[in-house]
Amino acid sequence: MIINIRKALFTDIDHILEIEQESINSWTPTQFIQELSNEFSTFLVCEYNNSIAGYIIAWKIADEIQLNSIAVKRSFRKQGIGSRLLSEICKDDSGRSFTSVFLEVRSGNSDAIRFYTDNGFTKTGLREKYYNDDDAVLMEKKL
Ligand SMILES: CC(C)(COP(=O)(O)OP(=O)(O)OC[C@H]1O[C@@H](n2cnc3c(N)ncnc32)[C@H](O)[C@@H]1OP(=O)(O)O)[C@@H](O)C(=O)NCCC(=O)NCCS
Repeated sequence: MIINIRKALFTDIDHILEIEQESINSWTPTQFIQELSNEFSTFLVCEYNNSIAGYIIAWKIADEIQLNSIAVKRSFRKQGIGSRLLSEICKDDSGRSFTSVFLEVRSGNSDAIRFYTDNGFTKTGLREKYYNDDDAVLMEKKL
């Protein structure tokens, strides 16, 4: 499998929105565009055979990483792309190293919770009704 992980560009946004709409469907185009110029944000895409197969967005503040969004195009799932994106975003960056990565996930999103657990995350808490219609499971991975 030939995959390439690189920084997201403005010209990727339409493809990213397609993946978002078939996955989580909660971010607006404006939110994605803002992440391209947010100084704390790392926004990466995965290209698979020259098409955008997935993306990941995280904020890197001090020595911590807050994972804000990850999705892989449905037809490309279960091939290791999500794990590659996760591992890429956790790498040391321009001489900076990180101690932990944090995230919140809907308690009903069992596929994602299993994916994070398989990738070394543990559950650290629960925020009741964080999403109005669902609780948030808090997860952390020590790096
Ligand atoms: C969660 C998500 C990003 C995972 O992406 P992915 O590319 O499918 O992730 P991976 O392929 O690395 O791992 C997924 C599973 O496929 C398995 N897998 C990976 N490569 C495989 C291969 N070559 N053959 C068979 N299975 C494989 C992994 O072991 C893993 O198993 P699991 O079901 O026990 O977790 C994806 O399901 C998604 O986009 N979901 C919708 C959006 C979402 O919920 N995001 C999280 C919000 S917090």
